[in-house]
Amino acid sequence: MNNTAKKLDVIQSEAPALRLIKHDNNIYSRLALGEAKMAMVGLGYVGLPIALEFANNFNVIGFDINEERVDMMKEGIDPSKELSSEAFENKNIKFTAKINQIAEAEFYVVAVPTPIDERREPNLTPLKKATASVAEVLKKGDYVVFESTVYPGCTEEVCVPILERISGLTFNEDFKVGYSPERINPGDKVHTVTNITKVVSGSDEESLEQIAKVYESIITAGIHKAASMKVAEASKIIENTQRDVNIALMNELSLIFDKLDIDTNAVLEAAGTKWNFLKFFPGLVGGHCIGVDPYYLAYKAKQVKVDPRVISSSRFINDGMPYNIAFKISRELEKLGKDPKASTVLVKGITFKENVSDIRNSKVADVVKKLELFGIKSWVEDPHADGEEVYNEYGIRCEKEHQGKFDVVIMAVAHDEYNELDADYFNTISYSDTIFYDVRGMIKDKVNHGTYLSL
Ligand SMILES: NC(=O)c1ccc[n+]([C@@H]2O[C@H](COP(=O)([O-])OP(=O)(O)OC[C@H]3O[C@@H](n4cnc5c(N)ncnc54)[C@H](O)[C@@H]3O)[C@@H](O)[C@H]2O)c1
Repeated sequence: MNNTAKKLDVIQSEAPALRLIKHDNNIYSRLALGEAKMAMVGLGYVGLPIALEFANNFNVIGFDINEERVDMMKEGIDPSKELSSEAFENKNIKFTAKINQIAEAEFYVVAVPTPIDERREPNLTPLKKATASVAEVLKKGDYVVFESTVYPGCTEEVCVPILERISGLTFNEDFKVGYSPERINPGDKVHTVTNITKVVSGSDEESLEQIAKVYESIITAGIHKAASMKVAEASKIIENTQRDVNIALMNELSLIFDKLDIDTNAVLEAAGTKWNFLKFFPGLVGGHCIGVDPYYLAYKAKQVKVDPRVISSSRFINDGMPYNIAFKISRELEKLGKDPKASTVLVKGITFKENVSDIRNSKVADVVKKLELFGIKSWVEDPHADGEEVYNEYGIRCEKEHQGKFDVVIMAVAHDEYNELDADYFNTISYSDTIFYDVRGMIKDKVNHGTYLSL
């Protein structure tokens, strides 16, 4: 008997008690018995996998404003290319782009983007719009759980007032709210939705209990009940901020060691033999989580008159790495007596990280742009990225693969396909004096000529 069946079995065997529970608005039981529906608002990297998991247990309505994406999901296609078509099979889910179709739901989960604006401050427009959509259909007894990554206090300070104002209902009397941050790791086939411990929180004790039960029904790794929504919001934001700060330290060390002519990776290998040395590596920090979330925390810190110096410096260092890489390459070309403007550069990988197709906030694109500042033109390839999307987003042409020989080869993203490349391949694409810039430290043992550089 699977988890869901077990839970339903328990609930059904308690049928008489349930009639009472229903009057107490036991939303979990009502969802599990199919008496209430859940709506997932925003079906991207986060929303779709969770919606499909919930659809094993509950009656789910998947809502997204992007009609094209909705049409693909109706056909069993994940527009984010993370899930196979089997993931859509035998699921109790209906996809829609029509807001009135979520009106029949009683439990709403919001998982829309929370990007930054050009001032690198939170852009809450998608979150506010999604909250307003839910507010329009909100009824007495409903639940709204936010999953989007936000700064501590955002749910209560920004979302709840929108829900109250538009619905005319009273928070915690007529409807309850929760916050449950998502830890999904795109491209990671080991840590998936159900086997990552989920932090949940509620606007009062009752909602915490109900929300916890709802998530417990799909998360096999278990849930952690946070003391408040603010605690849950803060816990998510510091997970990514901690990674950003640690990577920034490694990047700064690599800049120092480069000047001292010391191999950073060799230093980290030696230091890593100590039991409490943390294993972080230098690298490009792109994407829409680690490279974005710290700005949300910094914004909130400034609001309460704390200058977030460590967080801001880390962002500054990590955002500066594309320039450092481009500068180093241009100097090395000059050292070899090559004209940067006439040199050919192969850039292998442009997605924000390995084994995903997501190109948002790609720092490799930034490397390409910075190389252009030195007059250096790149040939970009990526087996996972969509060439048209790359061109629309960055004006950079990107192929699946390039043939030929290059003056510079930048190993930018550690896709599995690139890890499999052997010494023969690198011989074929290079001259005797080619510069290899190994951003992710993948090919040190595979190149035996030219100049080898890494962070
Ligand atoms: N992707 C990750 O790895 C990850 C991990 C943890 C947390 N998060 C957080 O989860 C949230 C969602 O991120 P994502 O990566 O899933 O984003 P995404 O861009 O992949 O998907 C968001 C979806 O929301 C839809 N949308 C936008 N506005 C909407 C609205 N008003 N109503 C309905 N749908 C709307 C978009 O069309 C899109 O399909 C963000 O806050 C992000 O920081 C992301």
